[in-house]
Amino acid sequence: MKLTVKPLDNIGVEIQGFDITRPLEEAERQQLIALWHQYGVLVFRNQDITPENQIAFSRHFGPLALHPLKATRSEAYPELFEIESGGDKDKSMTAIYKGQTIVGRLDWHIDLHYTGKPNHGAVLTAVEVAGEGGLTGFGDLAKAYDALDDKTRELIARLEVSYAFSMQRRHMRYVDLDGYEPGPHSPKKPADVKFPDFPESVYPMVMTHPVTGMKVLGIVEQFLDRVITPYKAGLSNDESIELLERLVAHTRDPQFHYFHQWQPGDMVLWDNWRAMHCATGTPPGVRRRINRTTIEGDVQLGRVLLEE
Ligand code: SIN
Repeated sequence: MKLTVKPLDNIGVEIQGFDITRPLEEAERQQLIALWHQYGVLVFRNQDITPENQIAFSRHFGPLALHPLKATRSEAYPELFEIESGGDKDKSMTAIYKGQTIVGRLDWHIDLHYTGKPNHGAVLTAVEVAGEGGLTGFGDLAKAYDALDDKTRELIARLEVSYAFSMQRRHMRYVDLDGYEPGPHSPKKPADVKFPDFPESVYPMVMTHPVTGMKVLGIVEQFLDRVITPYKAGLSNDESIELLERLVAHTRDPQFHYFHQWQPGDMVLWDNWRAMHCATGTPPGVRRRINRTTIEGDVQLGRVLLEE
């Protein structure tokens, strides 16, 4: 296969010349791994995707991880995590955002951030494309780091930040809560959706990508909690909160974002050590199904805060 790349907006490329139904030679596999790390997001269009070939394709990038949320694992294919809206599961995923009822909206996040060991990447495929909404956003945290001024880079190189897992969006400190109301069935604690609980995790505010060595801004709005011991870097608590507010606003700058509008036959692979992602959600009743496979993270990027 002769692969060519077409840049997407702000992060990632569309790969042309790829066919998931054809066996991948070792040289092609190495080329795809290199492109994944170089661009952060790879989009493949018009693929003839089955659960089997999605799982086989994903394994080219590393061993697959099973998601801790057992309820959404496919019974037939445990490596597949089924994301579905417009059906029975909507109730717990519905909330009101600035007067609009939305199902399945997710703030910017990094998968498994709350474990201290985020997965390396993931593959999403379109099973049923939403008639309205249902975009997946990707944000380049390496580009966001590069765009910071020298003074900020110097300051944040000395800081660590914590993430506190929570089921209630209104408890998250740095997401946009303006006009937000939970739905009547929004979960209140992890056990409500058969999810385990997690202690706080801590990361350097500037992460070094384990493969590329790129500097990656370690600030993502979902679950972001606080700067650890800000006084050690000469910051008051108030200054540390203002710093996080400023950095979160920086990551929301559209110059770092690509929003994928799904079409049948689409497959998207991203590097979860570099790109944050989000879901725009859909209006109630709109059908949308996405199958997801997760590539295990074999590097501990953060640490779990149990006793400090
Ligand atoms: C996710 O994997 O976080 C969800 C992506 C999506 O539903 O578009």
